[in-house]
Amino acid sequence: MLRDEEKLRAYYADAPEDLSLDDLDLDRIPRHVSIIMDGNGRWATRRGLDRSQGHVAGVDSLREAVTTSVRLGVDVFSVYAFSTENWNRPQREVELLMHLFATTLVNELPLFHQENVRLRFLGDLEALPERTRTVFQRGLDETADHTGMVFALAVNYGSRAEIARAARALAREAAGGALDPDAITEDDVSRHLYTAGLPDPDLLIRTSGELRLSNYLLWQLAYTEFYVTDTLWPDFDRWEYLRAVRAFQHRSRRFGGVTNR
Ligand code: IPE
Ligand code: IPE
Ligand code: MG
Repeated sequence: MLRDEEKLRAYYADAPEDLSLDDLDLDRIPRHVSIIMDGNGRWATRRGLDRSQGHVAGVDSLREAVTTSVRLGVDVFSVYAFSTENWNRPQREVELLMHLFATTLVNELPLFHQENVRLRFLGDLEALPERTRTVFQRGLDETADHTGMVFALAVNYGSRAEIARAARALAREAAGGALDPDAITEDDVSRHLYTAGLPDPDLLIRTSGELRLSNYLLWQLAYTEFYVTDTLWPDFDRWEYLRAVRAFQHRSRRFGGVTNR
């Protein structure tokens, strides 16, 4: 991905003592970075605030993470914003989140235009409130011809639901005679997932210290490097992001083979 190195240097000026952009190998930036944005509720509760204020604060972190991804030259940046299980939260919180998704998307469209970011959604959007869906569609339409980074927002996303959906689609193709069941490949499965056409994540970051996937990208994360930080999502900034990429670059990715590194 094309990267403006001058902008990147300016963006990462004022580094804290233990960190520098020079710690990174700019030729080995992960192509696809994905984040499970977690800890908004705890962030708010610790401050004596309502959980919803944690979600509002989380929007600022997301904006910064999108910009950081662009500056670093990541090709695909994806985030888990709402899971199929998150409907189990109090109705008031769900409504706030749906409202926040719509409002944020409208507010951030100028950023997507400015940075040439193409929007994409992962998940079943049918179940979302009308306004949220309408705004999402507008975001898709307005960024469709952008050629820069892909920003994929997982909303009403569940990996098991996604895989079951792919199985249904493959079964339909097979039943219709378009596909030989004995010839179904991994690529056939991949092209029926919400992530069709996107590279698998190289780096998965989860904030707030939880060591689980919470039904996120089970298929796509098969060989992804995981990075978990105790930092809560509203506190996650460009420096935390840099730490994660630095850690990623120290990993030895073997994909089942052997390496001398
Ligand atoms: C992540 O923060 C945001 C969403 C899941 C929508 P949480 O709301 O899960 O925050 P915690 O985990 O309760 O602190
Ligand atoms: C995962 O966070 C989902 C998102 C970040 C959108 P949760 O807070 O819902 O996950 P659990 O419930 O702790 O596993
Ligand atoms: Mg959580």
